Amino acid sequence: MDSTAWNERYEGSQLVWSAAPNIWVRQLTADLQPGTALDIAAGEGRNALWLAARGWHTTAADFSTVALQRARSLAKQQLGGDSVRVVTLEADVATWVPQERSYDLVLVVYLQIPKKVRRPIMRAAAEAVAPGGTLLVVGHDLENLTSGYGGPQDPAVLYTPDDIVADIEPAGLVILRAETVTRSLTDDQGEPVEALDALVLARRPLA
Ligand SMILES: C[S@@+](CC[C@H](N)C(=O)[O-])C[C@H]1O[C@@H](n2cnc3c(N)ncnc32)[C@H](O)[C@@H]1O
Repeated sequence: MDSTAWNERYEGSQLVWSAAPNIWVRQLTADLQPGTALDIAAGEGRNALWLAARGWHTTAADFSTVALQRARSLAKQQLGGDSVRVVTLEADVATWVPQERSYDLVLVVYLQIPKKVRRPIMRAAAEAVAPGGTLLVVGHDLENLTSGYGGPQDPAVLYTPDDIVADIEPAGLVILRAETVTRSLTDDQGEPVEALDALVLARRPLA
């Protein structure tokens, strides 16, 4: 999907994603010391806003104008004066490259794109992590297609934890976790279901 298609999707709905942060973002960043964060493909900003509420100075990058407008308005509603801690950046992350070793935390959450485009983005995300900083990548796992609920049904945009580890290998991070994890949610009928996510948590050693 290009930015036009994403804008149309966001325009068609009040809030496409949940207002709450992703469970893995919540669990795996809660104990980190707040600093600077970059949320790549931030969408409506649920993760960036949650981080900002915890003291992080977060850049939310996405190519959807509509999603970023929503993120800014939610930031004002939810954070008041602290909304200055969320900066939105309209950028196509397939071409925009963040500054290397600049962020204490880099998130890439549910960016589902083909490998050829994904690989340089993941690599750039990893290169953007500052010494001592953390990278968290979460996406719909390839295995979700056959054994999990929802998510994109095109295998070309799904990935495994090992795919992400291979993507970021040249960036020199230490892999802390690379695994398929189960996320519990409810389907449209309110029945409990499980989705499978690919999760990679990595850290750049202090110099
Ligand atoms: C499934 S949403 C996830 C949003 C957010 N990370 C979250 O978890 O709520 C995927 C997002 O990726 C963005 N996106 C897809 N391709 C992109 C690109 N090349 N550059 C910037 N954003 C992109 C879309 O606009 C969309 O907001």
